[in-house]
Amino acid sequence: MKITAIYPGTFDPITKGHVDVVARASSMFDAIKVAVASNPGKTPFFGLEQRVSLAKSALEKLPNVEVISFGGLLVDCAKDNDASVIIRGLRAVSDFEFEVQLAGMNRRLSASVETVFIAASQEYAFLSSSLIREISRLGGDVTEFVPANVNAALLAHTG
Ligand code: COA
Repeated sequence: MKITAIYPGTFDPITKGHVDVVARASSMFDAIKVAVASNPGKTPFFGLEQRVSLAKSALEKLPNVEVISFGGLLVDCAKDNDASVIIRGLRAVSDFEFEVQLAGMNRRLSASVETVFIAASQEYAFLSSSLIREISRLGGDVTEFVPANVNAALLAHTG
């Protein structure tokens, strides 16, 4: 039986921390759908189309990974894509409470989807997209933390 896993997030923008989680998940499951949430509540810095395109370029070397977007419920997106697993990355204890709540609620909404947590590699455990945006906006160098295409997009945005 082939197992498809979905890895949802806002990806505003995708970082090396996200890429690391996808790369590790891609060796555990037959197919990974990286699902970029439109998430208007977060008023994203990059538009949905650009977040998708940045994720596609950053992940193009992984053959069983596809990038999609969604605007509704995650469990509906999982169902539409025949995904039985939701992947979430855990960076620190502080992620735990929210992630357990999200996993519990998603299980209530759809009993057929199971959440699997992947611990972030230590070198990326302190990363977050908002920190990356802030450092970049203030003229700091984020080369070490984001794929090259994302770095270029941030520089183009911040001037
Ligand atoms: N490396 C680097 N950063 C990471 C990371 C990792 N491994 N894992 C998470 N992050 C960061 C993200 O960059 C983001 O940083 P930011 O807040 O500074 O921008 C933060 O952790 C959390 O982001 P993410 O994991 O993308 O979650 P999110 O809160 O943006 O998205 C959804 C959550 C999209 C999964 C959730 O809102 C959802 O499912 N929405 C769909 C609607 C729905 O179904 N709602 C009901 C849910 S029960």
